[in-house]
Amino acid sequence: MAHLTSIRELSREGALALLEDAGALLDAAERREPLPAALAGKTVVNLFYEASTRTRSSFELAARRLGATVLNLSAATSSATKGETLADTVANLEAMHADIVVLRHPASGAAHHLATHPRLRAAVVNAGDGMHEHPSQALLDALTLRRAKGRLEGLKVAICGDIAHSRVARSNALLLPMLGAEVRLAGPRTLLPRPLDALGCPTFDRLEPALEGADVIMMLRIQQERISGAVFSTLREYARTFGLDDSRLRLAQPDALVMHPGPINRGVELTSALADGPRSVVLQQVSSGVAVRMAILRACAARLDG
Ligand code: NCD
Repeated sequence: MAHLTSIRELSREGALALLEDAGALLDAAERREPLPAALAGKTVVNLFYEASTRTRSSFELAARRLGATVLNLSAATSSATKGETLADTVANLEAMHADIVVLRHPASGAAHHLATHPRLRAAVVNAGDGMHEHPSQALLDALTLRRAKGRLEGLKVAICGDIAHSRVARSNALLLPMLGAEVRLAGPRTLLPRPLDALGCPTFDRLEPALEGADVIMMLRIQQERISGAVFSTLREYARTFGLDDSRLRLAQPDALVMHPGPINRGVELTSALADGPRSVVLQQVSSGVAVRMAILRACAARLDG
């Protein structure tokens, strides 16, 4: 794997190999076993032009636990504020021998732009590009599901909320069906992709039909930072019609899991009781995230050495 900018770059076999590797790393981490120093001598740069808690810290921990040197740069404190282009910033990091650049950027396509830039050589990992993709999030969701349910094949996964602006929904809508799961999307009409079948999954403008018989419910935050104008009347009304609570959860399978990529807006898309309840795997998603990011970085490093 030279780069990971989109789930589209992965074959089914490639995705399964990453999940196997991540699963073994997660087992080792849980048993507090020493991890392989697969990134010794490598420099990983976390280049973040958008806010992040989980993604940035888990890429940093993943890189450090595999022995890499890590540099964290955020747009607010970099020369991006002085007008430097993204490619120039990365060329300068390469001049300091950066091997892998983990990029989060508000522009859809930013990671692809770097990965295909003729002047640049570093491996590029997409940590979220605008409304486009968030491949490591989809992989960590798949790993969490595989461990919690023992399989992905045949699972009915309802992804609910602001689908139109969600890179998490987009990457999961590509990855989970490739691994045998059935994805349904649900949200208010104003927050659904256009055309409705754009992501290739059944799409509903109400929550209930998507939740019916679901094995997994993934709730999403309203991506306010990507929305201009009004898309629903009030937050209270949104919570009432599109929030997940106990009564809606009862439409799903009795053992249905509740997921959320974070950050959660408690009381909006998800009640606090469900976020912290026995069906929630929100914190397992976070643990899976470190392992999946270790597997991704290791695959990129192996390619750099090969
Ligand atoms: C998501 C993101 O940034 O796309 N968060 C994350 O990476 N855990 C979802 C979100 O911000 O709502």
